[in-house]
Amino acid sequence: GPNGYLRPEGAPAAVIAHRGASSSAPENTLFAQEVGRRSGADFIENDVQLSKDSVPYLMHDTTVDRTTDGTGDIRTLTAAQLDGLDAGSWFSPHFAGARVPTLRAQLADLRQRGGNLLLEVKRADTEDEVAAMIDVVRAENMTGRVFVQSFEPQHLRWVHELAPELPLGLLRSTLDADPVAVAADLHLTSYNPSGAALGTRPGVVADLHEAGVAVMVWTIDSAAQWRTYDEYGVDGIITNRPAELAGWNQAR
Ligand code: G3P
Ligand code: CA
Repeated sequence: GPNGYLRPEGAPAAVIAHRGASSSAPENTLFAQEVGRRSGADFIENDVQLSKDSVPYLMHDTTVDRTTDGTGDIRTLTAAQLDGLDAGSWFSPHFAGARVPTLRAQLADLRQRGGNLLLEVKRADTEDEVAAMIDVVRAENMTGRVFVQSFEPQHLRWVHELAPELPLGLLRSTLDADPVAVAADLHLTSYNPSGAALGTRPGVVADLHEAGVAVMVWTIDSAAQWRTYDEYGVDGIITNRPAELAGWNQAR
């Protein structure tokens, strides 16, 4: 059917809260998610990786060092070890005791309170590892409210095999020569370039729209830039400042 993520004429771009509202709460925690939700974000963006025992958790970096009080590669830590970490104090004492959420806890929270997830498969070496993430989405009955993105085309191929009903976005930090062909090959619902990449050839937005493919740009935090990408016609803007973008959208 038609792509429901294309923005209607005259409507603003969707607000996508990067790692939650990560300018005002610790990234990839349920606090950041709640601030993002309350700011009116259409989607919360996260990053998902597996623990040593294959439980999906929210974590951006390969190691837990920057965003928790622990150390080490997340794939060397068990779920029990990850559950014991503090993911808030590094950001501010106000958030001391924030946990590293499991994907399951995050989805349960979103299902109860309302909201959609832009789930980034940040690391997965096999189809089974991607399946562990999809299984959680299904167990929480959230397939209708999850959009999957990745920098790795192979991740998207695996998701398409496992769950063809999930919309897919490809993250890019440079533009492909032919984004429309890439989108067709990978069954993309959206093509998700960095702001800098899109700025090199903004005309790809019209090309992708003509092919029924949406465009979500990252990570854009200033009003001057929101105006630029809004004028390029993007369908979604990934930002660390969702409340400000939602306000800007209303005033535009
Ligand atoms: O959603 C786009 C953005 O999250 C990709 O970069 O490093 O923040 O995951 P990164
Ligand atoms: Ca991300």
